[in-house]
Amino acid sequence: MIKIAPSILSADFGHLADEVKKVADAGAEYIHIDVMDGNFVPNLTFGAPVIQKIRPVTGAVFDVHLMVEHPETYIEDMANAGADIITFHVEATPHAHRVIQQIHAAGCKAGIALNPGTSLAMVEELVEYADMVLIMTVNPGFGGQEFIGSMLDKIHMLSHIVADQDFDCDIEVDGGINEETAHAVTAAGANVLVAGSAVYGAADAAKAIAAIRAAEEPHGCGDEEGHEH
Ligand code: DX5
Ligand code: ZN
Repeated sequence: MIKIAPSILSADFGHLADEVKKVADAGAEYIHIDVMDGNFVPNLTFGAPVIQKIRPVTGAVFDVHLMVEHPETYIEDMANAGADIITFHVEATPHAHRVIQQIHAAGCKAGIALNPGTSLAMVEELVEYADMVLIMTVNPGFGGQEFIGSMLDKIHMLSHIVADQDFDCDIEVDGGINEETAHAVTAAGANVLVAGSAVYGAADAAKAIAAIRAAEEPHGCGDEEGHEH
């Protein structure tokens, strides 16, 4: 079963708690929380105090996506604010393995993210330690960008690494996910789908979430007959 993670980057920040509750009530399993520092990406959002304020409105999984330099600086703050999963960018630290250990020590699940221009080889040795790998399907920093189709190969390659070695690792995709691209990314092997503008830009969030969920390709990496490779 896939999980839908609406990104609050596209929410109305003036009513953030209500906006979080709205998508959780509409069926989202995860709340995707984009933390940007204005250095790793050319945009700024918010930090732990804001996450702490929205924590009480839902029991949904808080999926924190750190787009920051020096991610190790923020792990404890994010965990204390109520993060369940903390994902950092492999490009943001030379000590990715240590950051995974730090996230686990803080009691959270650990995700590693890759920008579109970053090779999967950068995380191959880390997949067995991570709970999730996030393949960016746009360049991080802004919502509403166009899905980069060539990322499908990367998702597919990662899904083979996970399946072949039987790793317990989710594959998340983030950027340009809508009904159409949801079909392609799930067919390639993704099982956690972030969607910002497709959910918050819709008149009916529940319908938008249901439509993305319904687009799931049921056989994942299988061929036309549904056989696994
Ligand atoms: C981009 C963020 C995404 C963004 C996705 O830097 O990491 O989570 O909100 O937005 P959409 O779904 O509109 O591409
Ligand atoms: Zn994100």
